[in-house]
Order: sequence, then structure tokens, then C-alpha cells
Amino acid sequence: MKQLCLSLFLCFLLSFTANGASGDTHITIETQQTALVIRIDKDQTPTLVHLGPKLRNIAEYAAIPGNGKRGEDYTNIYNSVYTPAGSRNLLEPAIQVTHADGNPSLDLKYVRHETQAVADGIVLTKVYLKDPQYPFEVTLYYKAYQKEDVIEQWSSIRHTEKKSVTLHKYASANLYIPAQNYYLTHFHGDWANEMNPSEIPLTEGIKILDSKLGTRADLFQPPSFLVAINQPADENQGEVIAGTLSWSGNFQLAFEVDPLHNLRIIPGINPYASAYSLAPNTEFKTPAFLFTYSNQGKGGASRSLHRWARKHRIPQGEGNRLTLLNNWEATYFDFNEEKLSALFKDGKKLGVDLFLLDDGWFGNKYPRNNDKTGLGDWQENVKKLPHGLGYLVKEAESSGIKFGIWLEPEMVSPKSELYEKHPDWVIKLPNRSEYYFRNQLVLDLSNRKVQDFVYNVVNDLMTKNPTLGFIKWDCNAVIYNAYSATIQNQSNLYVDYVQGLYNVLERVRAKYPTLPMMLCSGGGGRVDYGALNYFTEYWPSDNTDALERIFIQWNYSYFFPSIASCNHITDWGKQPIKFRTDVAMMGKIGYDIVVSKLTEPELTFSQEALKTYDRVKDVIWKGDLFRLASPYTNDVASAMYVNEAKDRSVWFTYLVKNRYKAGSMAPIKLSGLDPAKSYRIQELNVYPGTNSTISKDTVTYSGNYLMTIGFNPQVDTRRTSVVLELAEAK
Ligand code: DGJ
Repeated sequence: MKQLCLSLFLCFLLSFTANGASGDTHITIETQQTALVIRIDKDQTPTLVHLGPKLRNIAEYAAIPGNGKRGEDYTNIYNSVYTPAGSRNLLEPAIQVTHADGNPSLDLKYVRHETQAVADGIVLTKVYLKDPQYPFEVTLYYKAYQKEDVIEQWSSIRHTEKKSVTLHKYASANLYIPAQNYYLTHFHGDWANEMNPSEIPLTEGIKILDSKLGTRADLFQPPSFLVAINQPADENQGEVIAGTLSWSGNFQLAFEVDPLHNLRIIPGINPYASAYSLAPNTEFKTPAFLFTYSNQGKGGASRSLHRWARKHRIPQGEGNRLTLLNNWEATYFDFNEEKLSALFKDGKKLGVDLFLLDDGWFGNKYPRNNDKTGLGDWQENVKKLPHGLGYLVKEAESSGIKFGIWLEPEMVSPKSELYEKHPDWVIKLPNRSEYYFRNQLVLDLSNRKVQDFVYNVVNDLMTKNPTLGFIKWDCNAVIYNAYSATIQNQSNLYVDYVQGLYNVLERVRAKYPTLPMMLCSGGGGRVDYGALNYFTEYWPSDNTDALERIFIQWNYSYFFPSIASCNHITDWGKQPIKFRTDVAMMGKIGYDIVVSKLTEPELTFSQEALKTYDRVKDVIWKGDLFRLASPYTNDVASAMYVNEAKDRSVWFTYLVKNRYKAGSMAPIKLSGLDPAKSYRIQELNVYPGTNSTISKDTVTYSGNYLMTIGFNPQVDTRRTSVVLELAEAK
């Protein structure tokens, strides 16, 4: 039955439903390795009885004890699949509503479920729930990406009550895990200091990770986490759940260790200031929560997410990317056509695919010569660019490279013609002083007219310059003084803003499906899979000090694949160009330097490195990532990518400590190779005038040897970064 259904659309799978001896029904959502099992008891109450390795015999799910068999659950819904508030629930709810008649309670009973194969290897299960007393329904969606071992879960809420219902909380998922111990790794930071990990044991009570920033929502923490079960998270072994909310606004991730010492995970939109008024017959769809369960530690979890993201989420996730030269740090706001033309030529000489013109090219009444003016006035500044963008696009193209442009279309400067013309398009309270974040305000994307304006900023640019090759979409401010001049219910604003943004991006992508677009938010203020539905790549941080970037990129790599990580070589930090290049290579390379200031050997090195990169980038972008030595616990950071055929690998090792004798003293054990294959090792990116200490002779090593004994890349204070290529010796 199951095999038959894989190729069929709309197939109701009875085989996925097991009935236990008790007469309970079991709904099984399975990937290649994992199962999530929902039990429907005789009272039609849906609970989650298993999330972990799948069993060989589907009938045995019926024997799994609910609640980890730890004692009495006073309510019998500690492990609800979607805990409703207000009736008998005593714990953190997934959903809390006030009905049209003022009743503040909800009960959700199982009605039916459907399972259908929606594409090859993707099975969607819908579980329909309903309040027995009110015409109020919730449908839970579970999309199982079978090969990638990823489950995408969201819910849809609707009702036919007489008036609007208020949704106080409306989470995306509600997971339940019985175990002895839980270790949560979460990430925190600030501008230029993104993604610092903290691993903490979870104890009874609730730990909340959240954002209330509106836009640039991930400035302090992202909606991504790891939970290790029973023992702290290890790279290669143990049970780990990696989860991330696909939402670019306020989020809340709640981790509750319940009275039975079981873990409840409730991720979703932040209920803070967001009681949502839902009209009858209107659907409210929550954002999706994405998660993967791995019993091969953090490494297994991240490889699953990477494969999923490349194949199913990021536009052209298995395609190409453009290397680029950006002018931001080379010129800041101070440029003109002449300077830019010289930079195009430099970019060509260096060997990149595209020149990216950053902030400062627009505004006339209030020219954008610093970060205080001009946002919203997306016309070329006639003093800096008298011949317009079209001229620059052609100039770049005649120098042999493509041209891309920076935009920050959601924002407005208080000093701008846009603000003068449309003060009601700006998010601000009517009776309070304006507060600025980076001297700017946020446009009200809950307003359709503003959505049209933002869409037209992109569309007009593309219509006038059809060969424009790249957009960097920035977002530098958070929402202060949240208030919309047009919205009816102010507490819908945070949600409607993000939906408005997605509407715009949906329209942009419908018209320009292949345009490469970088997701930037004053660094990594918006790195989530909601936005990455539309963007080909993201900007992890303004901090491009290569030493710092090793740590920042390392932590993003738990969730996001290297093909999407924009890693630029800049003048931040004290590292030599080789080190900066080697670090940038673990993703999509870009430059933000004055090429003409490079010394002869630096330029030669960079030109050669770009050629090498072109040859090996497919392995880095599309291969499996194995983190070998963590920069947090070793003198070196070391990680490798292995292609699917396991006949090629690129291996990076960097010195991260500078004490006497710091380095890779011993061989590092490799991972992910084929033990039966033989590999030849060659050093890449050897700096002009230096020699590789890795012997170039014909010695080959078996995958078995390299993974059991290892190999020393010989990183030390004289060789601070080493890139090695492994190729099968045939
Ligand atoms: C913040 C971005 O992160 C930078 O790369 C740069 O584009 C500036 N904004 C421009 O204002």
C-alpha cells in the first residue's frame, strides 16, 4: 500500500494508521529514520507518544506508553499534540483563544486525518481537530521529507463563529519527548557578534527564547536551537533534535520540562502584543516549524537540514552562485561613477563574477551621503551617478562583470521625500516621540499600498535594468513604537507585517524567479527559513574578521548549508589574506576590499584562489559537511565537505589559538569518506613563495586509514590555515 502511494497524489494511507489493542488509533508520520506518532484515544484526544527512531513494525507503535510512563498526568494531555488553553490543561498551551461569545477556553478533539504523497519522497499528513462546543477548527500539517529526515509542521486555524475570535497564542508545533536529561543549545549575540552558543541542561519549568524586535528579529537570538537528549550534544553521536522556526518576525520557543520530567517544545510566533483577531471563515496559517531528529549527533542533524534546504527550500539551492566584489567597506558612502568604474575593472582583474554597489547611491532632495537620510527615495543621486544606474550596469558589463545593487526597501529615513509624502506609511505611534534605530523607521508593510510601493522599488529597478544581476536586500532597523495608521486591530501588526513582507517577496520571486538575492539585516539579523524561501543566500554578520567568522560560520552551519553563506574577504581583523580567503571559502566567496591596494603576491594569490574555488566549489556547496575539530575546544577548527560519490573532499583547518606550540599536533580523524576508496591529498591555496609541507608524492591513503588514524594538516603558528583536497586515486 505504502509503495503504491509514493507515486500517487492524493492517496489516503490506511497503512499509516495502526490500531492498538486498546482500540486507540495511531497516526504515524515517518521519514527514512524517524517517526512521529500521534495516538487518538477513545475520547478522541490526540497525544504525541513518540518522536524518535522509527520502528520496523508499525503495529508496535500502539504499545508505546504515553508520557514516558513516569507517573500520573492529572489531565491526560501533558503530551497533547496541540495543547489547548482554558479547559483542563495545566501546562504551557500551544493555542489559546477567546471565542466570539467571550468564552476563554478551547478543547480540541480528533475528527479525521489524511495522508497524501505530495511529491516524490514528500508525504503530507493532515490531522483535523475541532472544538466539540464551538465551530472552531485546527488542522495540523506534518510534511515529512523522507530522504532528508526533516519534518515541517504548521497549523491552520479557522472558525465560523458569529464574530471574530481572538487568538492569544497560536504555536506552530507542540513536541513531547520523554527522557532522563535534556540539553538545550541556543544562540545569542548582537551586531557583529552573531550566533554565540550556550548549552544548558533544562530543568523543571519553562525556558523561553524569543524576539520582540519585529524586524531584524534575530539581532539578539535566532529562532534555531538544538536539543540533545540524555547527554550533552556531541558532534557524531547521541540523539539530537535540531529545530528552527520558518518566520522572519517575533518568535517564541518554549521549552518546558513538565511535572513528569518530560520535555515539551512549543515553537511559534511570539504571543507578545500579538493577540490576533481572526474573522469568521478566514484561515490563519502559522509559520512552519522545521525539525530533524538525529541519532548521529549534531553532525547528522545538520547534514539532514542542509540536504533539505538545498533541495526543498533555498531558491536554486542546488544551482550556482556568483562570486562578487562589494564596495561597502572600500568606499562607504563616498563614491562616484569614476571610482565605481575603476572598481569594476578591479573586480574583473581579480576574477569575480559580479560587482555589488552598496548603500549610498540614491536620494536627491536628501542625498544618502550618510546613514541619516534618503531611505525610501530610490532614485539615483544625480551628483554621484549623473548617468544613472543603466550606465553603470553597462559599464560593468563592458568590463566583463555583472552588476548588482543594494536596497533597503522596508525602511524610511525621517529625512526623505517618501516620509514627507506618506507619513501614514510609517510605523510610529501618533502621540509619542519618534525613536530611531540606525536613524531610520520601518515602513508599514501591513498596508497593501506600502506592499505595492516596496514591490515596485524592485520591479522598477529590474524593468529599467533587466540585466541587473543581484540584489542585496538589507533591513537595519527594529520596530519601535509599533503602531499602524491603517490597520484595524493594532495587535495584528507584528504578524501582518511579516505576511506583508512575504507577499512582496512572493511577487518578486514570481516575476524574477532566478534573480540571486542576498538576505541581509545589518549582518545576521534575519537568518531564518521563512525568508530563505525567497533568498539565494544570507549575510551572516558584518563582522568579517576571519578569526571571528570561523566561530560565526561554525554556528550557522548547524542549520544552514554553505551554499547560502556569504563569506567576504575584507580588511577586518589582522589575518593575512590567505587566512581570510581560506575562511571565506567555506561558503560563497565575496570581496569587500580595495583590490588596487593588494600587493603583487596578494593579488596573484587571490586570482589563483578564485580559480581553485571555481574548481572545488561544488564539493563545498553541495557536499556533506563534517565538523572535525571545534574551535571552542581545540587549538584548531577543522571541517570537511565530501561529495555524494565520496570521491572528492575539501578539508579546511584553521589555527584559532596563538599560544606557543598551538597547532594541529596530532592527526585529525576524517569523516564521511568511503573506507574502501584510496585518496590522494593535495594542498590548495599555497601562498606564492611558500611551499606546502604536505608531501606531493604519490602516497595514497585509504578512507579507512584516514577515518581511523587520521592525517595531520600541519597547522601551526607559521601555517595558520590549510586547505586540503582529497581526490580518489583511481
Ligand atoms: C548593513 C549591512 O550589513 C552592510 O553590509 C552594509 O550593506 C550596510 N548595512 C549599508 O548601510
